[in-house]
Amino acid sequence: MSNLFRKKQIGELLNKKGDTQLKQTLSAFDLIMLGVGAIVGTGIFILPGTVAATHSGPAIIISFVLAAFVCALAGMCYSEFSSAIPVTGSAYTYGYIIFGEIIAWFVGWALVLEYGLASASVATGWSAYLVSLLEGLNITIPAALSGPFDPANGTYVNLPAVLIVFALSFLLTRGIQESAKINRIMVFVKVGVILLFIAVGVFYVKPDNWQPFMPFGFEGVLAGAALVFFAFLGFDAVASAAEEVKNPQRNLPIGIIGSLVVCSALYISVSLVITGIAPYTQLNVSNPVSYVIQLVGQDWIAGIISLGAVTGMMTVILVMLYGSSRLIYAIARDGLLPKVLFKVNPKHNTPVVTTWIVGLVVAFCAGFIPLDKLTELVNMGTLIAFMVVSIGVIFLRRNKTIPSGGFKVPLFPVLPILSFLACLFLISRLSIDTWIACGIWFIAGMIFYFIYGKRHSKLNQ
Ligand code: ALA
Repeated sequence: MSNLFRKKQIGELLNKKGDTQLKQTLSAFDLIMLGVGAIVGTGIFILPGTVAATHSGPAIIISFVLAAFVCALAGMCYSEFSSAIPVTGSAYTYGYIIFGEIIAWFVGWALVLEYGLASASVATGWSAYLVSLLEGLNITIPAALSGPFDPANGTYVNLPAVLIVFALSFLLTRGIQESAKINRIMVFVKVGVILLFIAVGVFYVKPDNWQPFMPFGFEGVLAGAALVFFAFLGFDAVASAAEEVKNPQRNLPIGIIGSLVVCSALYISVSLVITGIAPYTQLNVSNPVSYVIQLVGQDWIAGIISLGAVTGMMTVILVMLYGSSRLIYAIARDGLLPKVLFKVNPKHNTPVVTTWIVGLVVAFCAGFIPLDKLTELVNMGTLIAFMVVSIGVIFLRRNKTIPSGGFKVPLFPVLPILSFLACLFLISRLSIDTWIACGIWFIAGMIFYFIYGKRHSKLNQ
């Protein structure tokens, strides 16, 4: 029984960093880029329209502010952890040091769910935008090849989604520097088209469209917040880059909080413009950002924005794939998953086998499974990790073996507790189906742990 809660020693971990074959090359700016790359995707190109139309109305901006608030609280807790324990594995590793092995495994398993399904579902959204963009150019991808396995409706595989996952997995195997470089270009394109949208759209805003502001009441705004929470996912992936960061004590908190600030500003501005151009009732479309620009007759700009959206979603898939492969690498290094997943290719300094396995599984999910209902599962996995990290900060401060210094959560212990409660509240709003599906996932995880992980854990030695 006591084995289940055995902990890792921080000193040992920091010494062991010599073990890692990953290189420390990322700066604070790279991290913000990585963060914005991971965060801004479906959340800005689809949710401001669909959630405004069905849940929040123009008050969608309040939904975004609430979700940003919850993420900022958790983000501060992540920052304190990542600056005290700058090793890869993010919430999983923090759980290992603070709470012990079984909790760490539980969190790691939740994060695999988050990153894996998030990359798969964004790949599906990416494919939808691509198909409509190509249609605008009179190129048609056959329906059979552009949807999940559903013969009754004539779709068999979502081929664009599968191909993009393979292409980005390949890029990731070439090395973190190459990926960061391409990521940086794609982030510039993405932020550029969003700013273009705001700059053009603001001239067509009619403040009358913001009335009624809260057509579904405050309940609607809260439900909207639980949905647009998805839009902020990804900032925790920044923490998983810990071992590849220069001066992590300083740069990790800047990367995490910085990317949240940039994203919140973009989301709120885009939501204001979208709901200001068209009445919220018209916004339940799959491409609201380019749709409203088309409504005001700016077809060219709409085309550019769709192209930017396709590029933008690609960076989300890239960073999420990166997050999963590094997480699995960290778990395998601890012996809880098979050793082969902790092999680094000497030429490119990347865990090539792990990256391809993640790529194959994600491509399978993106290609064959309809993922719209599973997005909630992504939120569930994330919120569980956030809760462990939030409450973990209190134990982190008490742990005298961990060197202090670096970033500290302000208003301790009020903020960590508030963060925990806010996540709990959002989890309670997820549907019963999600709870059941999640339950099955965690039971499978626990069985694997007792059959394999517990016996092979490095802590046995
Ligand atoms: N935050 C990511 C997105 O909006 C998951 O696509």
